[in-house]
Amino acid sequence: MENTSALQLVRETDDFVASLIAQMDLAEKIGQMCQIDVAGEALSEELKARLSAGEVGSIINQVDVELVNEIQRVAVEESRLGIPLLIGRDVIHGFKTVLPIPIGQAASWNRDLVEAGARISALEAARAGVNWTFAPMLDIARDPRWGRVAESFGEDPFLASMLGAAMVSGFQGQSLRDNGSIAACAKHFAGYGAAESGRDYATTNIPENELRNVYLQPFHAAVTAGAATVMTSFGDLNGIPCTANGFLLRQILREEWGFSGFVVSDWDSVFHLKVHGLTADDAGSALEAAQAGVDMEMASTTYKQYLAQLVEQGKLSESVIDQAVARILRLKLALGLFENPYTEPEALPAYGNRQALDVARQTARESIVMLKNAETLLPLSANTLRSIAVVGPLADAPYEQLGTWIFDGDSALSVTPLEAIRRRVGPEVEVNFFQAMATSRDRNTDAFEAVAEAAGQSDVVLMFLGEESILSGEAHCRADINLPGAQAELVRKLKAAGKPIIAVILAGRPLTLTNVIDEIDALLFAWHPGTMGGEAISDLLFGDFSPSGKLPVSFPRHVGQVPIYYNHKNSGKPPSDDAIVHIDDIDANATQTSLGMTAFHLDEGFRPLFPFGFGLSYADFVYANLSCDKQQVRLGETLRISAEVSNQGSCKAIETVQLYIRDLVGNVTRPVRELKGFRRIELEPGQTETVTFDLHTDDLAFFGRDQQRVIEAGEFRVWIGGSSEAELETGFSLID
Ligand code: BGC
Repeated sequence: MENTSALQLVRETDDFVASLIAQMDLAEKIGQMCQIDVAGEALSEELKARLSAGEVGSIINQVDVELVNEIQRVAVEESRLGIPLLIGRDVIHGFKTVLPIPIGQAASWNRDLVEAGARISALEAARAGVNWTFAPMLDIARDPRWGRVAESFGEDPFLASMLGAAMVSGFQGQSLRDNGSIAACAKHFAGYGAAESGRDYATTNIPENELRNVYLQPFHAAVTAGAATVMTSFGDLNGIPCTANGFLLRQILREEWGFSGFVVSDWDSVFHLKVHGLTADDAGSALEAAQAGVDMEMASTTYKQYLAQLVEQGKLSESVIDQAVARILRLKLALGLFENPYTEPEALPAYGNRQALDVARQTARESIVMLKNAETLLPLSANTLRSIAVVGPLADAPYEQLGTWIFDGDSALSVTPLEAIRRRVGPEVEVNFFQAMATSRDRNTDAFEAVAEAAGQSDVVLMFLGEESILSGEAHCRADINLPGAQAELVRKLKAAGKPIIAVILAGRPLTLTNVIDEIDALLFAWHPGTMGGEAISDLLFGDFSPSGKLPVSFPRHVGQVPIYYNHKNSGKPPSDDAIVHIDDIDANATQTSLGMTAFHLDEGFRPLFPFGFGLSYADFVYANLSCDKQQVRLGETLRISAEVSNQGSCKAIETVQLYIRDLVGNVTRPVRELKGFRRIELEPGQTETVTFDLHTDDLAFFGRDQQRVIEAGEFRVWIGGSSEAELETGFSLID
């Protein structure tokens, strides 16, 4: 019954779209393939003329709902065919209510929460008339120098796949037709995160096998989850810019994955094809992009200028255009825009409502990762403290805690750490605030002496350090990823004053903390936590909740180790802790030799400062009794793997239990560990739970030497634990 009606819907959609296309002239068709930027523009006569002429399929960057409604009205009532518009906007981590940056959300490892966050973002954006967003960003990010690591879900394809699919579901809801659902866009297809030296827009070279086994995985998951659209990457991938890359856009996306949504370019990325040196002129760029499968051009105007001429010259088949238009119209139909293109803001929840703020607070709380807690300094007890010194450039910076690319974020909603701490401890505890630096980049140390002396009078020093919002995100890459400005010096000065130092770092990327970690007694890494960051930080500092975040990326000891990620290959000479030679221990005039040497750096070894999956808790989780329900599994069967986790601490807390495997032999080499599952559990003190994972042999598939998916018989190792360095180990074999 259900199938019959689904089939009927598809037929009706196809009929509707086909009959509309039959009425369109070539210019109107091409109009649907053009998205124009209307940032800050009132409804000018020129824009009106373009809308009425049917030259526009979508606009980007208008969020004044009255204007959006008026723009829709002109498109619908004054154009010949009355086709409504897609209203695009980047809603990356919230709209008015700002959630933690995506890398922070990833640290929660909480699918439900990521979905809930996307839902509140969609509801808020929809209130402004937005019906299409350019998120999630699914680029695997293994280089913290890259500013857009902030927008990513980190280094691991499995985690990024799970969270990306959750975000798609949150934006799109049960049905795109529902009030408050907006279309998602999986971006940037593909490989954008691998830009050379972490410089945004720089070239990417990724072997096909690595592309398939790592970089494409989250996109496949998003497509499977029903993502309505896909955006191409700015990057040049193996010599063919992604916006002209038929291998990616036709072979993989459409033929192999059966993607039926549409593909949009990135901003001006069709025009960039000429700059890349792939085409000689804009007409050539329009041709390459359209032929490769880019259905809509964002911002630049090569489609508007050249597609008609290319068809007339016989260089481009009109059927390519018809297919693109059909895909775009299908989304408009699915969103219900033909029935009602207008937005009634009052029919949607208010901005910054209680539910939105609660989701933002919980997400921020669960995104924070505790990296150090010497002498169990945390949590603080507000009852026994007399005074707290709050120090640093990010303690009371309502805008900076929001993070990158939040054009609509309302910093008036922000609760800063200083505000939240004051509220939490009440009038009994003296809170002394010293900003000490004008910005996180400030190099002026003049105030440090006096601040150290004054702060040293308090019982404890809370430092709010890190990066301002503008130091990460698109086009904001750093070669040096230490704390910027004179912050490390501020830490040293305050440490010398003799009081315990608790640092809370707000940043858009993993930072190298090697030069300060020994001076700091306790460390919470809070990313850019968004609107409710202050409350979330205070929730953890004072023990109302235990930290539960786990790193979605490895933190290098030194920037020279980059890229450093847990799921690397073994190499022929894998390093080990007991075979490291340190640069200081090499004799003068040493004889040249490589014997006994392995894949490490003389000055930094091979380990990160903090590994993927790591994060401390106020509880003490102990893992035991790892077992598989069988030693041998046959193709098509499911293996049940379990371990006992007990909370041997004294407070209730959430733990993210992680399952890793290693496929010991493959026809292409396999990573030393791969995340294959995770479960979040909450345990009371003294409680033990048996956590079980069902691993199907399909979960062991990978792309082999011939780039086909394969499951190979052989030996596998298994670990369950609280980080990618989990020690509890067992194994099984897969037999044909
Ligand atoms: C970014 C995209 C974004 C687009 C629209 C581009 O510069 O790369 O991720 O969606 O702008 O704002």
